[in-house]
Amino acid sequence: METHIESHLVEKRVFKPPKDFQRRARIKSLAQYQKMYRESIRQPDKFWRREAKELTWHKPWKRVLEWKAPFAKWFVGGQLNISENCLDRHLTGPRRNKAALLWEGEPGEKRTLTYQQLHREVCRFGNVLKRNNIRKGDRVIIYLPTIPEAAIAMLACARIGAVHSVVFGGFSADSIRDRIADSGAIALITADGSYRRGTIVPLKKNVDEALQSGTSVKRVIVYKRAGNEIHMKEGRDVWWHRELEYVDANCPPVWLDSEHPLYILYTSGSTGKPKGILHTTGGYLLGIYCTMKYVFDVRDEDIYWCTADVGWVTGHSYVVYGPLANGGTTLMYEGAPNWPEPDRFWKIIEEHGVTILYTAPTAIRAFIRWGDAWVKKHDLSSLRLLGSVGEPINPEAWMWYRKTIGGGRCPIVDTWWQTETGAIMITPMPGAIPTKPGSATLPFFGVDPAVVNEVGDEVGPNIGGKLILRKPWPSMLRTIYGDKERYKKQYWSEFKGSYLTGDGARRDKDGYFWIVGRIDDVLNVAGHRLGTSEIESALVAHDAVAEAAVVGRADDLKGQAVVAFVTLKGHANLTPRLKTELRDFVGVHIGAIAKPDEVRFAEALPKTRSGKIMRRLLKEIASGQSVTGDTTTLEDFSVLGRLSAEE
Ligand code: PRX
Repeated sequence: METHIESHLVEKRVFKPPKDFQRRARIKSLAQYQKMYRESIRQPDKFWRREAKELTWHKPWKRVLEWKAPFAKWFVGGQLNISENCLDRHLTGPRRNKAALLWEGEPGEKRTLTYQQLHREVCRFGNVLKRNNIRKGDRVIIYLPTIPEAAIAMLACARIGAVHSVVFGGFSADSIRDRIADSGAIALITADGSYRRGTIVPLKKNVDEALQSGTSVKRVIVYKRAGNEIHMKEGRDVWWHRELEYVDANCPPVWLDSEHPLYILYTSGSTGKPKGILHTTGGYLLGIYCTMKYVFDVRDEDIYWCTADVGWVTGHSYVVYGPLANGGTTLMYEGAPNWPEPDRFWKIIEEHGVTILYTAPTAIRAFIRWGDAWVKKHDLSSLRLLGSVGEPINPEAWMWYRKTIGGGRCPIVDTWWQTETGAIMITPMPGAIPTKPGSATLPFFGVDPAVVNEVGDEVGPNIGGKLILRKPWPSMLRTIYGDKERYKKQYWSEFKGSYLTGDGARRDKDGYFWIVGRIDDVLNVAGHRLGTSEIESALVAHDAVAEAAVVGRADDLKGQAVVAFVTLKGHANLTPRLKTELRDFVGVHIGAIAKPDEVRFAEALPKTRSGKIMRRLLKEIASGQSVTGDTTTLEDFSVLGRLSAEE
């Protein structure tokens, strides 16, 4: 009861947009937002047509939307190229000499690329791709650190119509291999190594391992980043810098249909196999263009920094495509926030004069833990807007962010969205929508979210339910690559005509959305989605393991921690090293982010009579609660006692 009252008090904190911010903003009042929102829902064609006209089209579209649920086509008949929209169109005026990209490496190097320079590099690398027989429609894996070449490679693929699939640099050889197999990629772009907390991550070595057995990859282009020693396989591997010697900078953009695939990005689902989320050209560009324009209200004089790695969707939409489509200046940082010291972010903000910062709650919680003294060492007065993404932000972390980083003057945009949505879906407009700590507030234009119960009826204020989206939107995923059936089943089968987000939420009396977290078997660890069954599959692949069940437990720093319950095969010995061995095993098979924080051995796992693992019980045990819920279907009750005694 007391917690309820407390959370009620928290809800009452409301922060109006600061007056001076409001005056300059594109959307200046709640009324203006509401008017535009109403139009976007009632007359979506009219709304999106007007917005889309701000982009550069080679051939105009015939129809704004063709919706044969659940398959959407946006701007049917239109032709364009994203790289032209991100680069060429900014070259005719003063933006030509403006910084498009500012970069800082972890060891401290700095690079600046103006629009003109970035355009030139993208064109040259586009020609390198062509020289290496990469053509329109071919899939290309990009396994690079957050360096300018990652953006160059993505934009060069887009320029020639190749489909990129960026694999996060923290993923292992196995993960790369799976993604190559699923996408049928013919080429891979990587670097010798990258820096992380002062050590070198051997990217090329992981690639070599991934390509050991039969693969569709014919060509590997290697950028020299860390200078670590690597093996170059003759006939397959070429150096990025050598290839550039053979090409010129003349690479006209290929005109692509609005629905031409732009990229595939793999994300975790509730089954073992990662899903290849497919985004296409016109609608995606419009989604990221508009959100960047209205949510971040980005201006020519801004220095905008999104701290995400390019390997995640945030890196795609809000490090590369969104800012560049708007002619903004985007800052990229390669390394860890606490290298060499916990003030690295604040040092970067001070030195570059960052005006907009977009980061994740897990990072904010780490900063709180490291202490305010690190922040106080630096002048952060250049900041004018703050953003948050990746998981629900705790109201207290929100308050700290506002006060300590934003000096009490910067609005915070808590942006809810997903790999699948491509662009921000629920968010405050910083000059228009009053914010409440912990709430993503109201829907973006054209987004029609609802909170529903099990049968799909909308629930009343402050009642929890499933978050769905009732209308198609331009930047939506088009399918799961190569698996239309899974796309239909996963997202569109539970509530007819609506998209199932997989998140739980409630809506308060003002219509504000409060996202509670995942309702499926997907964990959110440090802002990254991990499928429990993926980790289970990795554990079971270990010789000693018979069965594994993975659940999440609340964690102060990471949001959720990974807890694995494991039963061993008869012959296996429970050696003192086994826990570490299993953790490392998961690290090798998926990547370090998926390593269980805790491994618990058990003689048996609690199962229903039909043999299903009762995760709810394991969750309660993992979080140290006594088991309270219904256990009537439990097959062997004594298992519970034994599991709890493990602690
Ligand atoms: O659970 C929600 C959470 O992150 C999930 C999407 O993860 P991913 O596809 O990896 O994309 C992350 C970056 C967009 C969502 O289903 N999530 C994301 N943003 C928020 C959030 N939860 C609460 N509040 C947010 N602002």
